[in-house]
Amino acid sequence: MTTPRDLSTELIHHPYQAPAGFAAPQPGVFKASTVIFQNTAAMRARDWKSKAGYTYGLHGTPTTFMLEERIATLEGGRHTVLVPSGLASITLTDVALLGHGDEVLIPDNAYNPSKELARHELSRWGIAHRLYDPMDANALASMLTPATKLVWIEAPGSVTMEFPDVPNLIRAARSTGARVAFDNTWGAGIALRPFELGVDVSAHALTKYPSGGGDVLMGAVTTCDPELHLRLNAAHMRMGWGVAANDAEAVLRALPSIALRYAAHDRAARTIARWWQRRPEVAQVLHPALEGSPGHALWAALCTQAAGLFSVVFDARYSLAQVDAFVDALRLFKIGFSWAGPVSLAVPYDLRMIRPQAGPGVLVRFSIGLEAVDDLIRDAEQALNALGAEARSA
Ligand SMILES: Cc1ncc(COP(=O)(O)O)c(C=O)c1O
Repeated sequence: MTTPRDLSTELIHHPYQAPAGFAAPQPGVFKASTVIFQNTAAMRARDWKSKAGYTYGLHGTPTTFMLEERIATLEGGRHTVLVPSGLASITLTDVALLGHGDEVLIPDNAYNPSKELARHELSRWGIAHRLYDPMDANALASMLTPATKLVWIEAPGSVTMEFPDVPNLIRAARSTGARVAFDNTWGAGIALRPFELGVDVSAHALTKYPSGGGDVLMGAVTTCDPELHLRLNAAHMRMGWGVAANDAEAVLRALPSIALRYAAHDRAARTIARWWQRRPEVAQVLHPALEGSPGHALWAALCTQAAGLFSVVFDARYSLAQVDAFVDALRLFKIGFSWAGPVSLAVPYDLRMIRPQAGPGVLVRFSIGLEAVDDLIRDAEQALNALGAEARSA
C-alpha cells in the first residue's frame, strides 16, 4: 500500500488538468519563472531563439509571445522583443548593435534619456556618440564615418516637435551602411509605418499608446530582419530584461482600442492646439499637423494622423516663473511626465535648456488625454489668469 501524500504535496502536485481548447476573447495570463520540461531530453533540446517552445519565464510565456506577435503586427514588422520600459527598448537597441569603437548618431531634439544613456553609459563601453540636427539631412550625411554603425531617428522631436525628413535621413544613413533605429512611440504604428520607409529597428514605448492607461511601463524592439532579431534577442536574454505577465496582459487588453484612442487624442489635441494659436499670450504652437510648425510639410507627406502631443511657446514677455504659475493654476491638466493616458498633462520647459538652436523662450508641452475638449479649454483659459497675475506681481 502506498503511503498517502501530505496535503501540502497534494495541493502542489494536484492531478487535475483543465481541458485544452478553452477560448475567450482575451488571451490568458501565464505567470512563470520556472517552465517545466517533459523530460531531460526536452530540457536539453530547449531553444530560446524561437517561439516553438518555452525555456524559462524570462525568455517567453504564452502571454508575452502573444503580445510580441501583436506588437510586430502593429509596427508592420516581423519580430518583436519586449523590455521593461520604452527607455530599455532604446538601451537594448544600442547594446545589441554597437560595440567598442563604434559611434551612434542621435537627433539633438531626441528624448533626453536616450542622449544621457549615450553620454554616461555607452561612453564607458567605448561607444562614441554625436548629436545631429534632424532638420538637415545633408548635415547628417556629412557626419557619417566608417565608425558610425547606428543612426537614431525620432519623428517628431520629443518636446520641440520638429518633424524631420525621415526618408532622406534614412537614405543618408544607408549611404554608408549604418543601421537605422526609429523611435516609433509618437507614431505608435498608426500615424506612420517606419519599416515601409526602410528602417532596420523600431523602438516603441508601449508605456504610451499601446498601454494607454498611464499605469504600465513597457517597451518593444521590432525588426523585419531575422538575423538582426537574433542579435536583439540574444542581447535581451543575456541582459535579463523580462516583463511581468500582468503588465503584458494590461497591454493586450488595451491594444484593441489603440486606433480609436489614438484618433480621439489626435482630434482633441488639434482642436486645443488651434485654440492656443488664437491666444495673444502665445508666440508659436508646435504641432506637426498645424501649418507653420517646423516640418509640417514633411509630416503631411508621410502621415494623416498625429499623436495627442503639442507644445506652446509663450511670448517672450513671459518669464519661466510666470509660465510655471500658469501650469500650477491648471486644474484638469496635471503636471507630470509621459503621455497617451486618459489624463491630460502639462510640463513647462526652458527652451534654452533643451534645444538652444530653437531660440530663447518658455514652452509648455501638453499631452491631451480623453477628457472633453471644452472642459480642457476652459481649464487652460482660467489658468491664463495666473500668467497675468504673476506678471502684475513681478
Ligand atoms: C519618444 C519617447 N521614447 C521613449 C520613451 C521612454 O518610455 P518609458 O517611459 O517607457 O521609458 C519616452 C518617454 O517619455 C518617449 O517620450
